[in-house]
Amino acid sequence: MNWGMKNRLSRIINPKTGRCVMLAVDHGFFQGPTTGLRNLGKTINPLIPYADALMITRGAIRNWIPPEMDKPIILRVSGGTSILKELSNEKITTAIEDAIRINATAITCSVFIGGEYERQSIENLGYLVDEGRKYGIPVLSVTAVGKEMARDARYLGLASRICVEIGADIVKTYFCDEFEKVVEACGNIPVVIAGGKKTPEKDALEMAKNAISKGAIGVDMGRNIFQSDKPIGMIKAVRAVVHENKEVEEAFKIYQDG
Ligand code: R5P
Repeated sequence: MNWGMKNRLSRIINPKTGRCVMLAVDHGFFQGPTTGLRNLGKTINPLIPYADALMITRGAIRNWIPPEMDKPIILRVSGGTSILKELSNEKITTAIEDAIRINATAITCSVFIGGEYERQSIENLGYLVDEGRKYGIPVLSVTAVGKEMARDARYLGLASRICVEIGADIVKTYFCDEFEKVVEACGNIPVVIAGGKKTPEKDALEMAKNAISKGAIGVDMGRNIFQSDKPIGMIKAVRAVVHENKEVEEAFKIYQDG
């Protein structure tokens, strides 16, 4: 791995703990003004000091995030679909040059294993890995789950392993029973979990705790943080679980204290 690639990865994954808390706020690229992100800057800017990295699109960052922000950016460079249509029909929508202009630390797209446009989405990932390699920019691959797909270790393991084989540097997937099998399928490639739909805070913390104990290196969480009634408390609580191995009860108290 070249120096730039290693340096960028170590900006995202804390070298002291080997863990990371990514804040995902890229939802608008396919679902428009998601609850909590209508005025993205108002919700997200106060959370940035507590995030290790921000997953976002180029349009959102230019609109709502001040360039003085010093956290690594994981730039969503794919899109072309909406919740009204077949989601797997995704394309790369942002050139690597624009990712570099934005000073992205990593780039990301989704892979839709089992989706109608499975092959196209795998090709997107391969293309990004090649582009990223030219400039030492790592690629985070999101295992998107279609309507028909079961979120189980068999399916998520299949999807995650394909991302690894195509060359992803970090895999983002969902927590499931027997999650350790998904992590094992990824070999040495770090795995983070998405938070998924908003659930009670304690459940989301429990899920993060379980994921870490089964080998995830962190979370790339969105709605369970920014849709919380205490978003700052919640991101602090997630950090405590991820970086300090706090128990769920202790972390939940951190959330309650805001
Ligand atoms: C999925 O394709 C996007 O990256 C989402 O924005 C992200 O996975 C959402 O995170 P969460 O499920 O925690 O809201």
